[in-house]
Formats: sequence, structure tokens, C-alpha cells
Amino acid sequence: MAKTGNENSLGTAEGAVMGRATHALHADSPVLNDRWAIHLLDPATRLQIQNPEPSAGTNDWDDFDSAPLFALNVGSLRYAEDEVERCFRNGIRQYVILGAGFDTFALRRGDLCDELRVFEVDFPDVQTLKRKRIEQADAAPDAMPTFIPVDFETSSLAEALERSSFDPNGRVVFSWMNTIPYVSASAAESTLREIASLSAPATRIVLNYSCDVPLSETQIAYLKTLQGKVSQSGEPLQSRWKPEAFESMLSDLGFTVVEHATERHLHERYFEGRGDGLSPGVPARLIVAELRT
Ligand SMILES: C[S@@+](CC[C@H](N)C(=O)[O-])C[C@H]1O[C@@H](n2cnc3c(N)ncnc32)[C@H](O)[C@@H]1O
Repeated sequence: MAKTGNENSLGTAEGAVMGRATHALHADSPVLNDRWAIHLLDPATRLQIQNPEPSAGTNDWDDFDSAPLFALNVGSLRYAEDEVERCFRNGIRQYVILGAGFDTFALRRGDLCDELRVFEVDFPDVQTLKRKRIEQADAAPDAMPTFIPVDFETSSLAEALERSSFDPNGRVVFSWMNTIPYVSASAAESTLREIASLSAPATRIVLNYSCDVPLSETQIAYLKTLQGKVSQSGEPLQSRWKPEAFESMLSDLGFTVVEHATERHLHERYFEGRGDGLSPGVPARLIVAELRT
């Protein structure tokens, strides 16, 4: 199945970068100043972001309030990048972005990427489209990631990384943001198991997942509508986890959980006092974990 969207609806990778481009261009104090996002859009979408007009109501997502979800996504990326910077200061020189989509870290973080090698993992067709957009951009990337095509459901992350210049003896930081909900629970677990077995001790991972916790009526209705939208786009939500189950899975695989945060913590860290009211309103959990020696 193609994962790059169609004329009525962008795929989740493109939808996410479109949100970041809008945020970087129009928000006061962006939570993540993704100045490269705008360059990765198709020309029509770029024009629409640069000159926003009331929607003509032709897009499948036009009737959906995507702000709470977008805030979770952008806040989670900021959370991941803050962790990556900490890891870099602690000597880690490899960064693997799982479900990278149209992530722009390598393209804009030349300050780190002279020394930090970035690997991006996603579906092959998403990566092909992204490479094309980078080539066509009227900006020069600070650095290029190494693209590692993988379908978490059907292929092995470890084998794909082994075929690349990834160094299994060097410590690494993995991020897996805004993607685990779209992956089956078994594929998420087997990917984490592969990470644990292929990586050097004291490797870190930062991720978020959709949590199975008691919800308000409003939250239930919001998630139901979201499920309908993403299913229509061909990328249904597939997994939700009880926080204690996720944490014990990581522990069984050999990770020590360093932090297990909620969307409320994300709000307090990055969104408190914003004038535009942007706030991560979708229930989620974020984890930083370290592989035991
Ligand atoms: C919502 S996007 C998030 C992209 C990026 N992490 C971000 O935050 O902007 C989800 C990403 O996961 C990728 N993805 C979903 N299921 C996948 C799978 N089975 N194998 C590889 N990539 C997958 C999608 O192609 C997409 O790029």
C-alpha cells in the first residue's frame, strides 16, 4: 500500500511536516523552529501555507481540529531533540530516527551533524518522495541522513542497519516519535527487541505511544474521529498500551526507564503560557530509556 497520501489527503508523514511548516512560519515562539519543513512540501501546499486563506472544504481533514494532535506531535519532537542534544553532550555520535517521515533534524542541525551521524528509518516510498523533495528544494541541507528503508511489520531493522554504515559497537540514541500508534503491538515489541540486541550498552531511546488509560467523553469522541480520518488515509491507529505494560516490556528487554512523562508534562515543559492556546490535548506517554550494561 502507498504511504505517501493522495490528492485529497496527505499521508501522515507529509501531514506532520505541513503542520511544522505552518507552525514555524506563523506561530509566535514556535515550540520547534522547523525552518526546513516548508521546503519539503509540494508547491501547491507550500503556497497554501505561505498565504493561508479560509479552507474551501475540499480536504478530508478540513472538518477536524488537528491542533491538540499537532501539539502532541511537535512537542514530542522537541522532547526528542532535547534528549538527542543531551546524548550528544554525553558523547553519543549516532542518531537513528524511527518512523522519520519528513523529519528535518539532519537538514537543519549542521551544528551537531558535522559529528553526529543521522540514520532515518521509514517506508521506502516515503523516503523516495522525501529525497525528491530535498533535491528539488531551493535550500541546501546542512547534512543528509542515511536512509534505511524498513517496514516495521515485515522487515528486520537490525538487518537493514547492519547493511548500512551503522556502527553496532558505538553508543546510539534512537527516537521513535509519533509512529508507534500506527504500528501493530507485535511489530513495536519486536523492533524494540532488535534495538536491545543490536545496540551497545548505554544506548538511549526516546519515544511516545498512545496510552490505554481512562478517558473523558470528549477524549473518546476525539480519538474516534481521528481513527476514522487516519483509517481513510490508509494508516489506521493500531496499538495502545497500558503504561505499566509498556514500562515492564522495556524493562524485560533490558532497558531502564529514565523518564515516563504524560502529555500534561509536555504541556508544562513547552506550552505553558502560550498566547495561542496550543496544547497537547491527546492522551499519550513519552519515555526516555537506557539500555543496561
Ligand atoms: C505521523 S508520521 C510521523 C513522522 C515523524 N516521526 C514526525 O513526527 O513528523 C508516522 C510515520 O511513521 C511511518 N510508519 C508508519 N508505519 C510504519 C511501518 N510499518 N514501517 C515504517 N514506517 C512506518 C510513516 O510512513 C510516517 O512517516
